[in-house]
Amino acid sequence: MLTGRRILLGVSGGVAAFKAAYLARRLVERGAEVRAIMTRSAREFIGAQTLAAITGSPPSEDLFGADSVSPHTDLAGWSDLLVIAPATAATMARLANGLSDDLLSATALAFVGPVVVAPAMHTEMWEQPATQRNLALLKADGVHTVGPVSGALAGGDEGPGRMSEPEEIVDAIEIVLGGGALSGTRVLVSAGGTREPIDPVRYLGNRSSGKMGTAVAEEAAARGAEVTLVTTAELPVSDAVAVVVVETADEMADAVWNRTGEVDVAVLAAAVADFKPQDAAGSKLRRASGPPDVKLVPTPDILAGVASQDDRPFLVGFAAEAGPAEQAVGKAAAKGVDFLVANDVTLPDAGFGTDTNRVTIIRPTGDTDEWPVMSKRQVAARLWDLIQGERASS
Ligand code: PMT
Repeated sequence: MLTGRRILLGVSGGVAAFKAAYLARRLVERGAEVRAIMTRSAREFIGAQTLAAITGSPPSEDLFGADSVSPHTDLAGWSDLLVIAPATAATMARLANGLSDDLLSATALAFVGPVVVAPAMHTEMWEQPATQRNLALLKADGVHTVGPVSGALAGGDEGPGRMSEPEEIVDAIEIVLGGGALSGTRVLVSAGGTREPIDPVRYLGNRSSGKMGTAVAEEAAARGAEVTLVTTAELPVSDAVAVVVVETADEMADAVWNRTGEVDVAVLAAAVADFKPQDAAGSKLRRASGPPDVKLVPTPDILAGVASQDDRPFLVGFAAEAGPAEQAVGKAAAKGVDFLVANDVTLPDAGFGTDTNRVTIIRPTGDTDEWPVMSKRQVAARLWDLIQGERASS
């Protein structure tokens, strides 16, 4: 929650400016007091009246002609955090170079608290060395960035440069301001499907997209946890999540086992191969040589390895079932977890690649609790509510 927090929302001129209204609404809903600053170009994309109606006060627009003799220092002194969404390439350049030629950049320069920037621009502009240089400068100055993500852009284009959704920006703000329910909790999450090489170009793999595990990691970070995500899937995540990219079950086992001694909670949502080719061919297998004789050997059981650690963290495993989730009841007892989150991956709204999931919580005692279909982020939120409750009562 952001109750009592004073947040200054800078809006610069891009199509994503309409999302600033949603962002202002989300911030107000979470208890923040919000004031807005619009740049001259932002006025071409969103009406001042819209922001005034949501925040309860008219947005500030100019350095000169305002009631105050020093609007930029007044606004800077008033706020606990400055968020700029959308941040155009021009606004990022002003901030990175300390320019103060409009109200927003002058206020940013006068402000000494945390700054969160949500860039939004076309892919070509985002990828320009100049923009990337400015981004690096901003990060070096301690500015927090959220996104951009890949997706639909103005003019029918598609690619990296789309502003993150308002909910993600609010999550980032909550993390920066601290004090979440998981503040001080160290968390490790695994995500994605491992790939076991057959030769330099082919692998044994599975259909996991990494969305479920990434949602679990993002939700934990939004609640203030210190999160490490060990993943095979490089999905966009907030800066607050430390990402370790791996490919094979062996690499994932090393990355997880090396860290689980230092975390309070581990949630293993990755789809790990149970078998791998014994010897990956050193060069590409040729069709002309006929079907290869690929001998499979077991991979390490990562979850069981964590479960057997002396001082193991609170441990949650996932279970992918091709049929009713209750099939995993035996697994919950065998795996030595606090509980399993089982999903039937044959359902259209659950499992691999979907944005939703339908899970059943299975305890080692055999007790089950079936949850309705929800977005993966909502599953993650309910999962963390459950973990927090269980840890608090143990
Ligand atoms: O990534 P998405 O596209 O969003 O899809 C989400 C998901 C379907 C991958 C996820 O919800 C899920 O079910 N993850 C677990 C997949 C899985 O490997 O299930 P399993 O029943 O085979 O394994 C049970 C548990 O043992 C899992 O926690 C797994 O990480 C772990 N395991 C399995 C094999 C192995 N060698 N080591 C392990 O640690």
